[in-house]
Amino acid sequence: MADGFAEFTFTPAVEQATLPLWEKVKHHVTPMEWRLQAPLIAEINRLKREKNAVILAHNYMTPEIFHGVGDFVGDSLGLAKEAAKSDAAMIVQAGVHFMAETSKILSPEKRVLIPDLRAGCSLASSITGADVRLIKQRYPGLPVVTYVNTTADVKAETDVCCTSANAVQVVEHVAREWGVDRVILIPDEFLARNVARQTEIGIIAWQGRCEVHERFNAADILELKAAYPDAQILAHPECPTEVLEVADFAGSTAAMSDFVTRRRPRQVVMITECSMADNVATDAPGVQFIRPCNLCPHMKRISLENIYEALTLDRYEVTVDPAIADRARLSVQRMIDLPPPATPARYDLVKARHHVDVELI
Ligand code: 13P
Ligand code: SF4
Repeated sequence: MADGFAEFTFTPAVEQATLPLWEKVKHHVTPMEWRLQAPLIAEINRLKREKNAVILAHNYMTPEIFHGVGDFVGDSLGLAKEAAKSDAAMIVQAGVHFMAETSKILSPEKRVLIPDLRAGCSLASSITGADVRLIKQRYPGLPVVTYVNTTADVKAETDVCCTSANAVQVVEHVAREWGVDRVILIPDEFLARNVARQTEIGIIAWQGRCEVHERFNAADILELKAAYPDAQILAHPECPTEVLEVADFAGSTAAMSDFVTRRRPRQVVMITECSMADNVATDAPGVQFIRPCNLCPHMKRISLENIYEALTLDRYEVTVDPAIADRARLSVQRMIDLPPPATPARYDLVKARHHVDVELI
């Protein structure tokens, strides 16, 4: 427990209040860790009720946040949908800044807090609204599809947003609607390359990268396959295409989680941010996780301590200029209004129909 939190002790009342959570996480958290975490978890859950607040926790949060205080957990698409329909007065975003902005865009009347303003994203900082305006001048008449991992001013210049869970669906939908055979899909170069392999629509891409997923390569995966021949290898579509080509399955964080909890493979390797495996392991007893560990430094800025401070000090409020929010909302809402896929989208690169390269801006 960090300095300043010593007053939160593991009393019998705390033990009782957090017992159901302990039953859930006891195979993944030591009793010693729990005695430190449980008092703060109990206090955060009490504060949420007092303030009519909900915590939206991304799949990359650490287990004590994800299982302990998250009211809604999931991938970027799931959290955006939750923000749109929640009737709480306050949202605390246990995730990164673009997710909090998305919540604010969708729920302008709510107070949206992020526990640490430095929780950024290498994809969101790779492109600005001014860049998108220049791209539109260069490719007039083509629709702009933007990954939600972007700032509000980029979303304001966007026709439809997407996440990794629906990128192929959004690209094909918008191409049909606009009557075009090429779409601008920005800013993640690898996501764009992976989408291009799944569709006949031509893709124009930007050179943004996720600093977590770009570090994986095919040689790492082949090494893991040799060491664990029975393991199912699951990769996120922000990884380079060469990684997806040798993986057994690729999809959004929700799709990976769904794969493991439904199919219960004996052994699994998740090629994504490190905390994901810890969270899924709690819901998939009996599955053995092999854990290559790449941490997202931005996601890891969020802790129980700063969530508690967010709720007690009402900080740090995320605001979006209403004029920008009004334009950005259209692009996010168009995505949300698309019919949900029956199962979370997957990227089948082994059987990919198209080997056409993207056009890089
Ligand atoms: P999803 O949860 O949408 O798969 O996104 C992963 C990610 O990197 C979010 O920052
Ligand atoms: Fe951004 Fe990658 Fe971190 Fe997600 S994991 S927040 S895409 S840097």
